[in-house]
Amino acid sequence: MSPSGVEPTVEVHLTPAELRQALHDDVRRGLLAPTGEKRLPPVWFYDDVGSELFEAITELPEYYPTRAERLLLTSHADDIAGRAKAATLVELGAGTCDKSRILLDALCRAGCLETYVPLDVSQATLCQAAAELGGEYPGLAVRAVVGDFHRHLDRLPTGGPTLVAFLGGTIGNLLPDQRRRFLFDLGCRQEAGDSLLLGTDLVKDASRLVAAYDDATGVTAAFNRNVLAVLNRELGADFDLDGFAHVARWDAEQRWIEMRLRALGSQRACLSALDTEVAFEDGEELLTEISAKFTREQVESELWEAGFVVGGMWDRPGGDFLLTLASPYC
Ligand code: SAH
Ligand code: TRP
Repeated sequence: MSPSGVEPTVEVHLTPAELRQALHDDVRRGLLAPTGEKRLPPVWFYDDVGSELFEAITELPEYYPTRAERLLLTSHADDIAGRAKAATLVELGAGTCDKSRILLDALCRAGCLETYVPLDVSQATLCQAAAELGGEYPGLAVRAVVGDFHRHLDRLPTGGPTLVAFLGGTIGNLLPDQRRRFLFDLGCRQEAGDSLLLGTDLVKDASRLVAAYDDATGVTAAFNRNVLAVLNRELGADFDLDGFAHVARWDAEQRWIEMRLRALGSQRACLSALDTEVAFEDGEELLTEISAKFTREQVESELWEAGFVVGGMWDRPGGDFLLTLASPYC
């Protein structure tokens, strides 16, 4: 029990059966695709091991986005809190809720915050974060939601002016069509007085971008290959993790980093749960994630198309990262 007696709650909208079905669908659609078209959505990276590896990524010298975003939050959270005046803070893909504390502190100082709603697919990480926050913020109602931000936006508790935070550059992991639909859905759900805080990574020198996704110690490579370990466990598959190389490539035209796994020699894996197998030719690649990089103008125009007007943007001179506060214009 937290000191105030307000116990954090955890609502689970993803049952093991639903997760299994979603994984089967994604694998049938993406992994069993023809040569050259194999892909998986990034949501499957984040089992317990993957979430821990991501935490390790955020501390790598090459991976600048987490540090850059934390600096921006530290400098501007009071300004953001004063504008948003939120009674409810919803955070999508909250993970360990580490940077969230900067926002929570500022919203508490502004005297408006009542409820914090972190949403994530990673149940263990979220439950631990919710329990810790319950102790650290007596009087704050922590209502964690285990769910998928593509499917469960309608299940989020609301109450008073709501600030939806989507940090970490995670918006860049959505494909352009998905991103458009997602922002539009968010916009439709917002009412006057609500707002959105978006963290986006900015276009920069390709060598820094590639290093951030292909670090010298191989943590990012382990994170990328972990998706095969997830398939081995969840589908009774037998991928040889050492049979795949980690690839991080900057696509200057699309302005995104692509994360791929490239077969070293021809590979074959049995997927027992689906009663099938998958074959990779030598050198064939599986697309595991994109991480799109933005310009200020692009963020502003994509938000406008989704029904938002920008109220504030924060970065640093020669900035690595951008925080944008927007509100619905309807
Ligand atoms: N916001 C944190 C974590 C970013 S990593 C930060 O800025 O450091 C991306 C997070 O989104 C992970 O915690 C992952 O579990 C979660 N995630 C990925 N896809 C998701 C989805 N479809 N629905 C909900 N959460 C998702
Ligand atoms: N949202 C993070 C990003 O795009 C996710 C991420 C960081 C990631 N490093 C990664 C995903 C490596 C796959 C592989 O920066």
